[in-house]
Amino acid sequence: MNTIKKNTKPTLLSGIQPSGNLALGNYIGAMRNWVSLQKDYNGIFIVVDMHAITVKQEPAQLRKRCLSFAAQYLAAGIDPQENIIFMQSHVPQHAELAWVLNCYTYLGELNRMTQFKDKSKRHNDNINAGLYTYPALMAADILLYQTDLVPVGADQKQHLELTRDLAMRFNNAFSPTFKVPEPFIPKEGARIMSLQEPEKKMSKSDSNENNYIALLDPPDVLVRKIKRAVTDSGREITPDSMKNPGTGNLLTLFAVLSELTPKQTIQRFEGKQYSELKDELADALIAFLEPFQKRYDKILSEKDYLTNILEEGAEKAQYIARKTLSKVYRKIGFVAPGRS
Ligand code: TRP
Repeated sequence: MNTIKKNTKPTLLSGIQPSGNLALGNYIGAMRNWVSLQKDYNGIFIVVDMHAITVKQEPAQLRKRCLSFAAQYLAAGIDPQENIIFMQSHVPQHAELAWVLNCYTYLGELNRMTQFKDKSKRHNDNINAGLYTYPALMAADILLYQTDLVPVGADQKQHLELTRDLAMRFNNAFSPTFKVPEPFIPKEGARIMSLQEPEKKMSKSDSNENNYIALLDPPDVLVRKIKRAVTDSGREITPDSMKNPGTGNLLTLFAVLSELTPKQTIQRFEGKQYSELKDELADALIAFLEPFQKRYDKILSEKDYLTNILEEGAEKAQYIARKTLSKVYRKIGFVAPGRS
């Protein structure tokens, strides 16, 4: 009997802005979850280049970084056979749906977005309209694909709430059109903090490169960054070290890389000097990142390989996106092309 297996897996979608260098925080907070969830979901992973230009970018660098990010998604273990990986700007439906959603988003909603407020402070010479309406573009990214689950960091929760509100608003105003997505926010436990200022999150867009571990940092840079990382003024690891922002962050990093619980990590280091923790952590980082970097180099050395994956990804994405967008256009009253 000819049985066609129906694909019933739910859809998972996420994206990272190609700004700065992908950092260990991105891997632990996001990409690692993408990889572990991919067998149970249809994964859609986007390099959101259109979001990146809401702050100033140098064109040559942006171009290079976009490809580098896609290669790093693959190097992290996203299987291009099983998932859709593409550049946002290769799928014009994102901009198109974003426009429609802009017309259903209230200024009051955008005014509340904390990321807009933060970024306007940090880039106060360039508070542009795109930065302001960016949440509508993000909602379009998600809603085009009838997404079930969106794994994001806690800082994106507000944008996801707005996405859900927009989906419900549209569905109520017309008829069910969009699936209302659920956020997937990893547990606080594994939050990786800045190496120099451990009160704030490790961020790839940090202006101080010593604050984060880039996934592509070579071994000597890794060693240097860990050596310079701040700890408290003590010398030896005690059970209380976990509570100190700097020392605790290094212990957490070690725990995550070695798949140990915080308790096991303390047991392992109790009574040891901070310098020993740093040496062991640097070794663990190198061992962890080396195979990743090898895979990355291999992917980039086969130029067509990546180009083909992105081309295929954009095609598959457009196929889904077109369906949603044409429904939207019909419901809001646009005349279908070729039919008057
Ligand atoms: N706004 C997200 C961030 O800054 C990136 C992003 C854009 C995204 N579109 C998305 C994340 C869709 C998840 C789903 O981190």
